[in-house]
Amino acid sequence: MAIASGSSGGLLQKNGQTKEIPPALKQVLEFPLPTFEDVSLAMYRTRNRIRNTECTLSDALSELTGCELYLKKEYKQRTGSFKERGARNALLLLSAEQRERGVVAASAGNHALGLAWHGRDIGIPVTVVMPASAPLTKVTKCKALGARVIQHGDDIGEAKAYADEVYVKGEGLRYVNGFDHPHIIAGQGTIGLEMLEQVPDMDAVIVPVGGAGLIAGIALAIKTLQPNVLVIGAEPKLCASFCAALAAGHPVRVDMQSPTLADGLAVPCVGPHSFAVARTLVDGMVQVSERDIGLSVLRLVEHEKLVQEGAGAAGLAALLSGQLPELRGKKVVIPLCGGNIDTTVLGRVIERGLAADGRLVRFSAIVSDRPGGIAGLCKIVAEEGASIKDIVHERAWLVDAVAHVQVFMVVETTGRDHVERLRDRLEQEMNFKGPITSWGQVSL
Ligand SMILES: Cc1ncc(COP(=O)(O)O)c(C=O)c1O
Repeated sequence: MAIASGSSGGLLQKNGQTKEIPPALKQVLEFPLPTFEDVSLAMYRTRNRIRNTECTLSDALSELTGCELYLKKEYKQRTGSFKERGARNALLLLSAEQRERGVVAASAGNHALGLAWHGRDIGIPVTVVMPASAPLTKVTKCKALGARVIQHGDDIGEAKAYADEVYVKGEGLRYVNGFDHPHIIAGQGTIGLEMLEQVPDMDAVIVPVGGAGLIAGIALAIKTLQPNVLVIGAEPKLCASFCAALAAGHPVRVDMQSPTLADGLAVPCVGPHSFAVARTLVDGMVQVSERDIGLSVLRLVEHEKLVQEGAGAAGLAALLSGQLPELRGKKVVIPLCGGNIDTTVLGRVIERGLAADGRLVRFSAIVSDRPGGIAGLCKIVAEEGASIKDIVHERAWLVDAVAHVQVFMVVETTGRDHVERLRDRLEQEMNFKGPITSWGQVSL
């Protein structure tokens, strides 16, 4: 089945890579690639301390997306993400000497948390180097789990360089890469095995992609057992490193213009081992906008009463973005892979999601500066059932209308139709001409 090209710049076709690993990729591979047997062994090895998370049908989101949509609730792992799977598998495969010395990893959060929890559980000292941008909730939880937490560097690359220099070379600790080691990929693949047991006749899975360990593991498991199941990746437009690697034939670094809401997916260069596994197994990629991600977080809160971080919501964002019409009517599984979001960020994401939905809009209107001018405007808003969230007025800058005042308002509505009704009243009764804008100054 060919997947048509997406409307918003996503790379969405069968990737057409030959099975042969290109020389530029081969050169950078340090370890043998993981096999399906490694995934099965990881399942057996880790199953007593990794939760087989539920995978349930979402009625509300099925209706919204037109698919039969199943949510694999990986945020229900103890530390709030799937990363525990690979972390535990990798820790259990260390030699006795490596276990005694301990491990180090650079991570913005979820991998660090998985290592910290399972290191403590198994009795292996864990050091994590987190970049300054790491979400506070993840830093605090890591410390609480007893890991040695060092904050260093502006991004994950700088944190990794520091970890290598000080802890690998300096202290002889073993570095555990969060997305590119075969043991990690095999651990993440166990999600795919569980999905197939839980939804045996699934048609497709949509997997968030950062460094690509998760999609490599899931694709390896699913394509081995059921090659007809579509494996589709979702990555932020702001950091589309898997698409860039597909285009180049090997991992390449992309420039990140600005940070993405999906901080877990902000990996500017996918892992070579993960890419080597996933490149021919993945059927297509979707690039999601920040707006798609924000809306997806909001939909999960509203319809499922559950909280995801941006990365965890990226699979649903791909579906909601409308770039996968082929999946209508199909059985689709989405891993909700992480719930570690700062509460303050969640608040902002929900606000932006409301704005993206046209349920939080702003406009400015010019009204009479005489008594009752502003009140008249507020009365119309109230009569139309919209709720004023912010209001500011100013006169000094309104140079050509001294008897008037400019009022800026943010109002909550029930959606675009409601905005239209409000606009009609404002046009008729206040001579309103200006735009009403939502997320990112988009005019409604
Ligand atoms: C919540 C969440 N989802 C998805 C991913 C992507 O995993 P990978 O880096 O293996 O592609 C991450 C990575 O940290 C994550 O934290």
